[in-house]
Amino acid sequence: MKVSVNAAFSLNKNDTVIFFVDETFEYRQLLTKLSFVRTVGDEKFFKDLKSTLVIPSTINADIIIAPLTVKDNKRNSIRKAASDAARAAQNYKKSSIKVVVPEKGELSQKESAHLIIEGVMIGTYTFDKYKTVEDSIKTKITSLELINVHSAIEDEVKTTARICTNVNLCRDLVNESADVATPDFIEKEIKHIVSKTRLTMKVLNERQLKSNKMGLILAVGQGARYKPRMIVLTYKGNSTSKEFHALVGKGVTFDSGGLDLKTAAGIVDMRMDMGGSAAVIYTLKTAAELELKVNLYGVIPLVENAIDAESYKPGDVITSYSGKTVQILNTDAEGRLILADALAYTEKVLKPASIIDFATLTGACLTTFGWEYAAVLSSNDSMIEKISASSDVTGEKTWRLPFDQVYDQKIKGDISDIINISSDRKAGTIIGGTFLKQFVEKTPWTHIDIAGTAWYDQAAGIYIKHATGFGVRLMTEYFSSNQK
Ligand code: BES
Ligand code: ZN
Ligand code: ZN
Repeated sequence: MKVSVNAAFSLNKNDTVIFFVDETFEYRQLLTKLSFVRTVGDEKFFKDLKSTLVIPSTINADIIIAPLTVKDNKRNSIRKAASDAARAAQNYKKSSIKVVVPEKGELSQKESAHLIIEGVMIGTYTFDKYKTVEDSIKTKITSLELINVHSAIEDEVKTTARICTNVNLCRDLVNESADVATPDFIEKEIKHIVSKTRLTMKVLNERQLKSNKMGLILAVGQGARYKPRMIVLTYKGNSTSKEFHALVGKGVTFDSGGLDLKTAAGIVDMRMDMGGSAAVIYTLKTAAELELKVNLYGVIPLVENAIDAESYKPGDVITSYSGKTVQILNTDAEGRLILADALAYTEKVLKPASIIDFATLTGACLTTFGWEYAAVLSSNDSMIEKISASSDVTGEKTWRLPFDQVYDQKIKGDISDIINISSDRKAGTIIGGTFLKQFVEKTPWTHIDIAGTAWYDQAAGIYIKHATGFGVRLMTEYFSSNQK
């Protein structure tokens, strides 16, 4: 999508233009600017408008009136209104749209423009590469022109468009079939990204995982046709600092549950179980493209949790990279296993100043928060505060759950140091985080469970159903506002 800026309030014949209205909206102002709008109702009608309205005009431009209806959150309100309006344009098969950037209110034009671009680009995303019937393929919006722009916002516009492009590429990868997006495929995708950016990569293949004694990643991946591996991406954006921050992402390209096989309903969407790794990959890509002044590692363990004669088995005791032994009481709690090795390796070998992991880790997270919030668990209050501040900006909501010594007792083993589930099956998301905690010794670290937020079962807000790209905007904002 080409995104451009125009200072003028320029409208031409056959344009499609989006205009926001809210309770402070002055109907008369609209009439002076859009003198060609045929009268539709009265002032009250516009004020009470609850959904997008397309009105004809005397110059044959389509005017889309986008009401700001989300009362409690101005930012979400603009994103949602822009998304709804752009979808209305899509339904009218319009591939070019103009948007009048509001000029008053508590948000600057720069902030409004940012939110409008997010709403339009993320809201009109479709995954239709497997659609063959022309009629069912949605019109692509190829041009978005922000008009009535009075301040210098070109840089912001370019930056936002970049971020949103990467959010949508992240969604493409998560939506892709598991038989296509295998560990081999994702490695190739990463290679492709690396060839076009300032990122570098290192791959630990199965042999190297063995020589590094990464027993847990190897165990989870051993039943699959596509072999496990771990990829380390590096972005050096601040040459004056030696400090690196690490992002670690769960990359289970398909989670069958293993020998503890999932149910038919539980297995069907499990190609999304690499959503954490996709968020890490596209955050690193974004950081490199925006040249953020920060040094980052992206650590991506990639496995398929498959069923086969060679699959790891319930009851097996496995020695992790850290040296701690883990008894597998359920092969479906595999994400924490691969992350345990990835986290321990990150801390020991890469020695970053902080670690954040993203993982579609527990069904319990979905039970607790639905699609609304990602769960965060951390012993570091300052990281939590910064992540929460970034959530407020991007609308990717997070909520903290507690760590407590009591939970550590729940995963003590009989014949091993640790077990991979709690025998009482309670507090699933906290137990997932507590398990990971055993593998980070001293580095400030935060775990983000995105089981609910990475994948929607139905459309909501600015997202159509399925992959949301959760995490890319959050982490881009986090590292943009904490550049070091
Ligand atoms: N990938 C799943 C978690 C998941 C479930 C993500 C639903 C998205 C939607 C994870 O590997 C898993 O299966 N977790 C188990 C853990 C249990 C065996 C302790 C779960 O949540 O049921
Ligand atoms: Zn699982
Ligand atoms: Zn999983």
